[in-house]
Amino acid sequence: MSKNVGIDWSKLGFSYMKTDLRYISRWKDGKWDEGELVEDNRLNISEASTALHYGQQCFEGLKAYRTKEGKIQLFRPDENAKRMIKSCKRVLMPEVPVEKFIDACLQVVKANEAYVPPYGSGATLYLRPFVIGVGDNLGVKPAPEYMFSIFCVPVGPYFKGGMAPVNFIISDYDRAAPYGTGAAKVGGNYAGSLLPHELAVKKGFADCIYLDPETHTKIEEVGAANFFGITKDNKFITPDSPSILPSITRFSLMYLAKEYLRMEVNHRDVFVDNLDEFKEAGACGTAAVITPIGGIEYKGKLHVFHSETEVGPVTKKLYDTLYGIQFGDIKAPEGWIVEVK
Ligand code: PLP
Ligand code: COI
Repeated sequence: MSKNVGIDWSKLGFSYMKTDLRYISRWKDGKWDEGELVEDNRLNISEASTALHYGQQCFEGLKAYRTKEGKIQLFRPDENAKRMIKSCKRVLMPEVPVEKFIDACLQVVKANEAYVPPYGSGATLYLRPFVIGVGDNLGVKPAPEYMFSIFCVPVGPYFKGGMAPVNFIISDYDRAAPYGTGAAKVGGNYAGSLLPHELAVKKGFADCIYLDPETHTKIEEVGAANFFGITKDNKFITPDSPSILPSITRFSLMYLAKEYLRMEVNHRDVFVDNLDEFKEAGACGTAAVITPIGGIEYKGKLHVFHSETEVGPVTKKLYDTLYGIQFGDIKAPEGWIVEVK
């Protein structure tokens, strides 16, 4: 029986709270140490760390889910580990091996078991792994030392309302350059998205959607989630671009749409002046799960998909399938679930 942490699970949004223990491993002289669980949630690092000055860092996001039987499980942590390796390579940081990454996730969840929300609350335990360049360094070059850490926080919906439609606005800004770091989960992409996000929120939108940085004609993604649309003839469509962050939720939905819902799936260009081809649209990601898109504003006009207030039936089916797998109610494809024992 784990301790009572006194949280009202139904009131959780997506905000930080300190949990009991976090994992830290340090890289020095060409290797990672074994890593340890620590209580202190503050990092003691050099003022000259490359993570602070040159954005040499990357992060991940994944969740632990409580099943009906009370077990705890992770959803595709190997995919987060592999994506973090790609992000590390892109900004010249040492890779964290897949096994080390998964082992650290398991340690953190076990150590904070009391913070894994109960089945049925809809809330989850969000894990935030990250790698940062640390140590004394001044010139623009890779750091002499690194830290790999994971903390966890119980969370509710990322966008207010959870599975309720929200509206987005097309941004005039880019989040990534055509051959830049868009496909890597590095902090710089998010620093650049803060202003466009704030402008969107001030106008009453949940967030903005970025167009492709080369031609500004095609939908790329939402600030913290990928985009998908359901065509009038029931195809699942999601944009294909080298500057989009390859969402694990998105690839999972592509598989589920095809194999579980028998839909045709296409990964291709989505032109912003052809939104009429979709009867439904959504944003998907670990934090966002599936957030239905009510409408998208572009050049002063709001294009409404299914409805601004009701979830479309295909989006609902996709959500139920994904959610069912993540919480253990629907049989997952081989290898998608890792139990925390
Ligand atoms: N796109 C961006 C920019 C993100 O930050 C995220 C979140 O991780 C996603 C998409 C969704 O990716 P995933 O489904 O792997 O969480
Ligand atoms: C996630 O979905 O895990 C994200 O990283 C999105 C956002 C909180 C940055």
